[in-house]
Amino acid sequence: MLAETSLDIRTVSKTYQVNDQALDVLRNIDFTVEPGEFVSIVGASGCGKSTLLRLIIGLDTEYHGDILLDGRRIDGPGADRSIVFQEHRLFPWLTVEQNVALGLDASDAPVAIRGQSVAEHIDLVRLAGFEKAYPHQLSGGMAQRAAIARALVNRPKILLLDEPLGALDSLTRAYLQDELLRIWRQQSVTVLMVTHDVEEAVYLSDKIVVMEPRPGRIAGIVPIDLDHQRERAAAGFIAHKERVLHLLNH
Ligand SMILES: Nc1ncnc2c1ncn2[C@@H]1O[C@H](COP(=O)(O)OP(=O)(O)O)[C@@H](O)[C@H]1O
Ligand SMILES: [Mg+2]
Repeated sequence: MLAETSLDIRTVSKTYQVNDQALDVLRNIDFTVEPGEFVSIVGASGCGKSTLLRLIIGLDTEYHGDILLDGRRIDGPGADRSIVFQEHRLFPWLTVEQNVALGLDASDAPVAIRGQSVAEHIDLVRLAGFEKAYPHQLSGGMAQRAAIARALVNRPKILLLDEPLGALDSLTRAYLQDELLRIWRQQSVTVLMVTHDVEEAVYLSDKIVVMEPRPGRIAGIVPIDLDHQRERAAAGFIAHKERVLHLLNH
């Protein structure tokens, strides 16, 4: 996996036309995800977080500004970017193994290598033994882990996460936060995650981009200069959380 990937969001603005009216969704969004960084975006519902991820994925190329991956402007979807959503979006009629293998659809790797990559990534997310299970046989957390394996199996340069743990109960969520950290370290992949859980963002991120709505703008960027054995009850942790909350609520 490539740790040297950077993502530059340069003065990105986006307008939707709704009933002949221009709806300003994003205005002058400007930040960089450095190589190997884990960056989170937090902001109220409707402030354009998912829209920004759509632009990065390349599903929508109508915007102002530039989105650069390793210095090259994104002009459509590509195998160098993967995304995981709040819903796992696994195909119910395919097994875990078959779902993960879909992540290799765009790859020209030979069949034997594909099988090996699928097995490695099922291992990575600790689903070994569940290769032949169908999505309905998995818990919510396991299904999300399968979705993460599918997103990583093609070795993307950047992993995008849109509220990936938002639908899970709090214990599973805390467990998967640690799993995300482990996977991020193990794969040295660059990560950009959207969440509306401030504590989750402080727990996981190197820096947090705080957005405010109508139109979606950056309220501030908070670097989290804590090492990665974070204690949620520690004074430093709480201080960072308060900085983010202050930006969200000002
Ligand atoms: N395809 C679309 N056409 C028109 N408006 C849209 C479209 N997609 C999203 N919006 C609007 O853009 C705003 C931002 O949406 P979204 O990016 O989903 O926000 P978030 O993910 O932060 O909750 C919302 O007001 C939403 O209604
Ligand atoms: Mg959203």
